[in-house]
Amino acid sequence: MQILGIDIGGTGIKGAPVDIDSGQMLTERHRIPTPQPSVPEAVADVVAEIVNFFHWRGPIGCTFPSVVKSGVIHTAANVDKRWIGTDAHALFQQRTGCPVMVLNDADAAGIAEMEFGAGRGHMGLVIMVTLGTGIGSAMFVRRTLVPNTEIGHLVIRGKDAEERASDRARKEKELDWEKWAERVNEYLHYLEALFWPDLFIIGGGVSAKYNKFLPLIETRAEIVPAQLLNDAGIIGAAFAARVLVEPVHPTPDSVMTPPDQNE
Ligand code: BGC
Repeated sequence: MQILGIDIGGTGIKGAPVDIDSGQMLTERHRIPTPQPSVPEAVADVVAEIVNFFHWRGPIGCTFPSVVKSGVIHTAANVDKRWIGTDAHALFQQRTGCPVMVLNDADAAGIAEMEFGAGRGHMGLVIMVTLGTGIGSAMFVRRTLVPNTEIGHLVIRGKDAEERASDRARKEKELDWEKWAERVNEYLHYLEALFWPDLFIIGGGVSAKYNKFLPLIETRAEIVPAQLLNDAGIIGAAFAARVLVEPVHPTPDSVMTPPDQNE
């Protein structure tokens, strides 16, 4: 089955049709810079532009870098604050004329990794952490997603963890890999003290350079880089949106999608 995946980020909005049985994108992704300010109407226009680019008339899975419950955006750490309270599900559906499922970006990336990437077959407690502009998180227990965990905002040394250990923090504070890895280490140790995961998957753009920092990280849990890199959001959103067309009965080897979208 084919579903259009769209990944909305603070700097770019990317989309591609995905074969959700194989987890493969069917074409090159199409990317459009995120409008600034990233207000709802302007972002919805870009979503519609991507849909038109692919002449798409079917279901769409769409990520958003915020807490998303029943399609409504509840936080806006790295997008325009006017999103808070917006029904993204209704807005995108009305703008595109297609059935749409909206979910948190890190949850989507985690779903893709659990199904087609680094977490494939893992039955334990898995935490995927995306290190990018912010810190996103996705947590799975026996392959079931606990949606909207926002553990990138835990407070460490009096500061939001994403202000200290995101990839943006590395770049803005011009930290070398050692210094930044220390911060990531401290953050992951905090997560370990709270959640005792069996596996960490490290995602986000920086995970492509994992050989620069993963050897400097020491965790009790196994730790691996994400495998789908920049495509994880698109693939995971498309995979999650399969509930729009087929009922999903969770089994031990199928990842459950955020449950509250299409009640
Ligand atoms: C947001 C999360 C998001 C993450 C990555 C954080 O600032 O609160 O919802 O998943 O950034 O984009």
